Parts: sequence; C-alpha cells; structure tokens
Amino acid sequence: MGSLEMRMITFVLALGALLPCGLARGSLSEPYLISGKGNNAFAFPDYALPTSSGYFTVDPLSSARLFYAFYEASEPAAQISETPIILWLQGGPGCSSMIGNFYELGPWRTASDLQLHKNEFSWNKRFGLLFIDSPVGTGFSIAEKDEDIPTDQEQVAAQLYIALTSFFSLEPLLQSRPFFVAGESYAGKYVPALGYYYFMKQKLSLSVDIELQESKEVSPKAAPFRLDGLIIGNGLTDPKVQVQSHADTAFSFGIIDMQQRGEAQEKAKEIVKLVEEEDWHSAYNARTKLLNWIQHVGGLATVLDIRRRVPYHCGADGVEFLKEFLGLNSVKTALKAEEQIVWVPCSSRVGRIMANDTMKSVKWMIDELLQHNVPILLYQGQFDIKDGVASSEDWMRTLSWKGQEAFSSTKRRLWQVGNVLAGYWRSYEALTHVVVVGAGHEVPADQGLHSQKMIEEWIQERLIQLGLSKISSE
Ligand SMILES: *[C@@H]1O[C@H](CO)[C@@H](O)[C@H](O)[C@H]1NC(C)=O
Repeated sequence: MGSLEMRMITFVLALGALLPCGLARGSLSEPYLISGKGNNAFAFPDYALPTSSGYFTVDPLSSARLFYAFYEASEPAAQISETPIILWLQGGPGCSSMIGNFYELGPWRTASDLQLHKNEFSWNKRFGLLFIDSPVGTGFSIAEKDEDIPTDQEQVAAQLYIALTSFFSLEPLLQSRPFFVAGESYAGKYVPALGYYYFMKQKLSLSVDIELQESKEVSPKAAPFRLDGLIIGNGLTDPKVQVQSHADTAFSFGIIDMQQRGEAQEKAKEIVKLVEEEDWHSAYNARTKLLNWIQHVGGLATVLDIRRRVPYHCGADGVEFLKEFLGLNSVKTALKAEEQIVWVPCSSRVGRIMANDTMKSVKWMIDELLQHNVPILLYQGQFDIKDGVASSEDWMRTLSWKGQEAFSSTKRRLWQVGNVLAGYWRSYEALTHVVVVGAGHEVPADQGLHSQKMIEEWIQERLIQLGLSKISSE
C-alpha cells in the first residue's frame, strides 16, 4: 500500500473516531496514531476482573440475552449476606451500562490511555455493584432479531426481572441482600418501570399465594429478590414537562438570548401539542431537534454539561475512548462478552425501535411507588441543560402522593462534604432530592467523592429504617 493511500486511511479513521465527539475541525490537523497505544497488547489484569459476568437469557423462545457484570463490595461494612447490592442502568434508550462501569462509578475506569485506573470513589466499596446492558440489543447484550428489542417500559422491566431472578439465584446468599435499583438519564424511565413491575408482581403473586395457601396446595413463595429503593440521576421521567424547561435553563446560563428563548419556547409548545395528540414519533423527533438547535446556537460540545469542550468519554484528542477500549478482544474475553459484538456507547438500533416510547411519561409510577413508601432518591448535576435540576424540579412539583405537600414545603438544606459545598438536599419520608454542584449529566464521573458519599449516606439511612445493620462503622 502506498504511503498516500495509508495516509488517506488514517485520515478517514481519524474522522470516524472524531465525529462522535463533535470536535472542532481544527483538531484534524493532529495526526492520529492508530497503533500508538499498544492496544492489541493490552492484557486485562486479573485484579480488575468482575466477580462474575456473562449473559442471562430473557426469553426461552429467543436467543436474546442480557449482559451483566457484577463486582462484589470491596470494603463491606456488614457481613456479605447483609451487604446491599446496587443495580446500575444506563439511559439512551440503548446506551450501555459499561459507560457507568468503565467511566463513572465502577471500580476500574479507563481513559484515553486505554488503561485501567482504580476508582477511589466507586460505588462498590460498601455495596455489591451490578451492571446490566439493558434492554437487549444494548452494549454487549444480544438481540439477533429486531422483534426481541422492547418497544415499551413494561417489556424492558419484564426482561430485567427475569435476568435479576437468574442473577439472585446464582448463589444462595444473594437473595436476602438489600437491593437498590439506580440509573441515569433515560433510566429515569427504566428505574420506576422496574420498581413498579416488581411491586405489581409481588402483589399479584401474594394474592395468588394466598388463594393457593387456602387450598393448602402450595406454601407461599417468597419474592426472588428484594427491592429496597430506587435512585435516578439526571433522569428523563416526565418528558412533556421536562421539554418545557430547556428554554429557561439555557437562557439562565446565558447560552441563548431572550429572542432565542422565545423560539425555544415556541418549539417546546409544539412538542407539548404533539405529546397531547399522542404523535409519539413526531414528538420524539421534535425534541431531538430542539436540543440539537440549542447545542448548535450555543456552540456547545454537549447539552449534557455546558462546561465541557469535548463530550463525555472523549479524550482531549477527540477520540471516544470507551469504544476503543471495549472493542479490544482481550477486554471482551475478560468480561465474558461475545467477541463478535461491536460495542458502541449507544445503540442507534435500540434508540430507533424505542423511539415511540421516549416521550411517554412514567411519573404516575413514581406517584404509586411513593404512595406505598418505596424510598426514592432523585439527584441531578447542575450543569446539565437536558435532564438537569430545573427539568426535574418541574415534574417533582406535580407529583401526587400522600407526602407531596409536606415535601414541597420542606426546606432545602446545604450539603457539605468536609468543608466543601457538595450540593443541596431536601427529604420528606420516602422522597429525597439532591442537587450536586460542580457536576453535569454524568455525576459520578464529575464528582466522584460526592456521588459516593451521597449514595452511601442515603442507603445507610434506608438500612437504619429497615432495621438492618449500618453499612459504615463511622
Ligand atoms: C412509531 O410510530 C410510528 C407512527 O407514529 C410508526 O410508523 C412506526 O412504525 C413506529 N415505530 C416502531 C419502531 O414501532
């Protein structure tokens, strides 16, 4: 191959690698070294391996499987049978939870050097941490047929429920452990949907069991796993309300002017109308257009964090490094992921198939869960203008549960870690709201220590209320 041809290939590859990060053109002048990082030589170290990982089938009639990676608590404060487990779900729809694992809250994170770095602020210090690529077709999860990919929240939850039932039966001690479901962004819909599905299932099996018990045929069956609380970070939960916040948020940050705010408000009104007409596909497209427009006129690298010059999980060189790292065969083998899968951060196939679900609200599920005292933590990083603080406050204000009035009138408090302002919080009975300062959309990546403290303290409170041992002896 001639050297000009070689240079052309390098250029095309560089373009391909740069575009997802949306960098300014100028960076193309920097040469991009394809083999400069010793990629193929990367050996996944044993100490960074998950405790277990692999696949769970979700339907006996199809080949669809969900990929998981589980990390046992590294410094548990209680005996293992009482150590909580957190499930982490990425959003999208179609984004892989390996983003959370290898970039945000997992025990080992990668960077543009494609090496693994110990994460001091991992969420698996006190808790077992389970990542699932959900729904099928996402990340390393497998969906050979489009029909296997869910089109609504009930199907997403049903797949997760089956996978979790398998996970919790891997070992006898797992089942009794306190369990929390957490997620970010579009998981603002998955998390309530899974919670709602779980409690409906429990109620249902409970009434079935009582009937069976009365007929003395079978003894009552316990739930296959516990569910002790839900956690949503920078979530999309009530899109119709949330889409109306973008204009004011962008204006308040000085990203758009008064006239552009008016334009954004007009666009949002159109979207609200489409939602009310249940024209889900047009509503979805219009929301994407509005967010792209704000990003464009504001010259932002991403609407997920207005401070960033490059989007999340992109190096200063503009390369989306998670895709490179998780594309390495040695990494796939170590994780027990299928080698033929081309890992992408967010699957456009899943995004397309779930598009009609995007603008549907699950706020009513949160109402129902709170009404039944299911603990819920909602947190947001401040610099996200897509699913940020105001966007969440707007729908939280319209919640309808027994504690709503008291929650609304509860005073917001400062939250400090050491002498540093970490954020603000407000809590009444089952509902807690936390604002994380100095963070964008992906809070654990931006404020590792504070996100770890937040999760440890909130879960510890829940355990005390459940009468279970403390997670920390401090
Ligand atoms: C979404 O809805 C539109 C009609 O509004 C329909 O044409 C399209 O097939 C739907 N997409 C999927 C994946 O179901």
